[in-house]
Amino acid sequence: MNFDFYNPTRLVFGAGSLSRLGEVVAGLGKKALVVTGGGSVKRSGTFDRAIESLKAAGVEFAECAGVEPNPQISSVARGAEIVRREGCDVIVALGGGSTMDASKVIAAAALYDGDPWNLIAHGQEDWHIPAEALPVITVPTLAATGSEMNCGAVISNDETKVKSFAQTESLFPKFAIVDPLLTLSVPKDQTAYGVCDIITHVMEGYFNGVDGTPIQDRFAEGVIINAVEWGRKAVADGGDLEARTQVQWASIVALNGWIQAGVHMVAPMHMIEHALSAHHNITHGAGLAIVGPAWMRFAANHRPERFAQFAERVFGLSPEGKTPETLAAEGIDAYIAFLKEIGCPTTLSEVGVSDELFEQYAKDAALVVHDANGNLLGRPPMTGDDIVEVLRSAL
Ligand code: NZQ
Ligand code: ZN
Repeated sequence: MNFDFYNPTRLVFGAGSLSRLGEVVAGLGKKALVVTGGGSVKRSGTFDRAIESLKAAGVEFAECAGVEPNPQISSVARGAEIVRREGCDVIVALGGGSTMDASKVIAAAALYDGDPWNLIAHGQEDWHIPAEALPVITVPTLAATGSEMNCGAVISNDETKVKSFAQTESLFPKFAIVDPLLTLSVPKDQTAYGVCDIITHVMEGYFNGVDGTPIQDRFAEGVIINAVEWGRKAVADGGDLEARTQVQWASIVALNGWIQAGVHMVAPMHMIEHALSAHHNITHGAGLAIVGPAWMRFAANHRPERFAQFAERVFGLSPEGKTPETLAAEGIDAYIAFLKEIGCPTTLSEVGVSDELFEQYAKDAALVVHDANGNLLGRPPMTGDDIVEVLRSAL
């Protein structure tokens, strides 16, 4: 194994931790841009409490409201413009992954003179990887993406229908203030989609990483087992604070780099899903519930032992008298049954997507993360035809 692990985000975790926002922001700047989504933080009272905490600490603020799910580069440009106009020196992201991702790129775009779309990898020659950004404090209100404690940001461009990412050290939040109380208002469907996203982050490394990572395997299995157990409870009873707390911790560890250390993860399920949600604006976690199992069936044909291990260790299925292929298939079925139980869609037809643009999604999925032959990276690498075949199996 060889790896280089780095995560400089300071994590403040626990029910009630929102009250520390002002103190934390005051240590980083004088005027905050508070970035929010479509209004859930206003309805839940989270916004008012955050502002109260900022005011008590003597921090001024401006607001960038209305960041949409699957955030657009136009929202990033708008946020950066507010930062410049208002003289903000620190960014507070108050919302789900979309708000956090937009905030990170706003923080970089505010210090960059060019077109903010250059900051997002989309196959261009002049990809400007941001070397600097204003300090960002993430305050997640939804457990899903792990954006709160990683250096990735996923941004869409409605004009070109491309959804892609920036991922670099300058985008690590300075602090993540993670208060599970803020997630009590997340509706059942978004809770379930978040659980699927968390599980898929772990699966990407587990199924697409290198061989010989037994400790990471057990970490990964432990996080998935707990995401299933506590995710089920959080969906059944949104007011269950213990379940909300465990799911939110799972969200963080699933994608803050620790489980992936030495694994050298690539993420084909995500690349295919991003191509879908760029065109159809479906919720990321719902898209993963559709793409994930279809991809797993495809990949299990190439590597049944790995999927058999997953079936046995995560879903407790007995290997007795079964070939790896059979056990692998049973594990995937058990996962699909779980997704259905918590209310996720598992077919494209459920979200109104037909086969009309399959070739386009296949092309978009491999736009950035591909090998020398143009194949989407993963185990195994996927040709365009493979991607179309996987999508067809999800119809
Ligand atoms: O916009 P508001 O009104 O806030 O409502 C949101 C939105 O409608 C709502 N919501 C959030 N917190 C709530 C709440 N509703 C009630 N109570 C609360 N406490 O939930 C809806 C979805 O929000 P969104 O932020 O879009 O969801 P999510 O956290 O799943 O983020 C998805 C985005 O993150 C990207 C996805 O591609 C997608 O664009 N990802 C980012 C990653 C990263 N930075 O590391 C990795 C992921 O794999 C993912 O790709
Ligand atoms: Zn994801």
